[in-house]
Amino acid sequence: MKPIIILGIESSCDDTSAAVIQDGILCSNVTASQAVHANYGGVVPEIASRAHQQNIIPVVHEALRVAKISKEALSAVAFTRGPGLLGSLLVGTSFAKGFAQALQIPIIDVNHLQAHVLAHFVREVTVEKVFPQYPFLCLLVSGGNSQIILVKAYNAMEVIGQTIDDAAGEAFDKCAKVMGLPYPGGPHVDRLARTGNPLAFNFNKPQIAAYDYSFSGLKTSFLYLVRDQVKLNPTFVDDNRNDLCASIQRTVVEILMSKLRKAAKNLHINQVALAGGVSANSALREAFQQHAEKYGWQIHIPAFEFTTDNAAMIAITGYFKYLDNDFCDLSKAPYSRVSNTI
Ligand code: KG4
Repeated sequence: MKPIIILGIESSCDDTSAAVIQDGILCSNVTASQAVHANYGGVVPEIASRAHQQNIIPVVHEALRVAKISKEALSAVAFTRGPGLLGSLLVGTSFAKGFAQALQIPIIDVNHLQAHVLAHFVREVTVEKVFPQYPFLCLLVSGGNSQIILVKAYNAMEVIGQTIDDAAGEAFDKCAKVMGLPYPGGPHVDRLARTGNPLAFNFNKPQIAAYDYSFSGLKTSFLYLVRDQVKLNPTFVDDNRNDLCASIQRTVVEILMSKLRKAAKNLHINQVALAGGVSANSALREAFQQHAEKYGWQIHIPAFEFTTDNAAMIAITGYFKYLDNDFCDLSKAPYSRVSNTI
């Protein structure tokens, strides 16, 4: 039987990525990141879309080369249609359409958030993996999203809780900025927290309904604490940076886990997965391990390669949709916003 070979393309924010998946098994996953945004303290949409234009052809070329697949062997091209930055999405979407048209193969539109969840199903020849079983809960935490998703099937997902303001990654990045750390601050907070006291400072936790999150109040109380203390001691941040990092990290992780615990308990689900860029956080990973031991959760934590934006997750989603004959036509435009069903 002819193999099913999917080229996945991801360009929703500041990573240009292409991956090849053959019959569900990953053959390549190539990403060009855009370090330029660090100079501006955040992603600059116009610069991001221009960089995608420069990167997309070399990245696709490299993904095909590493996979040892000729473009004529591809079965379909899957691309991130949204949510994300429109200018960035347009580059990947337009490339996918043009490339597939030239090869006379179908295109498959992919929801970026659905793909983050399905990253757990990427198979690698050399890696033994236990896949999540439906239904499971997925905590999706990134620079743009903080959601609890009830995953009933690959194509039936419900966002049962989400942030009403900032995302968890944004909280890390903004607090890091207040401490003078470079962008993105999350990994720096994680590193410095390892030698800090997580109980040194206390921050108020939000009281939000159901399974929703809020991180903007936390960010503000962190800012006010630093501002007030610096008035008393100008070297406060330098003297306490590691303790501040450990304390803010503990608070973010406690907020994330308390809602997830509540959802798992109420819905009687013990399969719990983690996804998105913030899932690289060591305290969050540790909290997952502790919950597995304490509450009998079967946890699924992605390899680092699949936590941040990557095209392997787009290609695997495309593969599942291909098997269902779920293609799209050239009229499908990118979208920037999220919805409650995926
Ligand atoms: O999913 P992702 O790569 O892309 C966007 O949503 O843009 O997530 C990036 C976010 C950033 O906010 C970054 O600071 C955060 O993930 N992040 C971390 C860690 N690694 C990345 N936050 C906390 N601890 C980490 N180790």
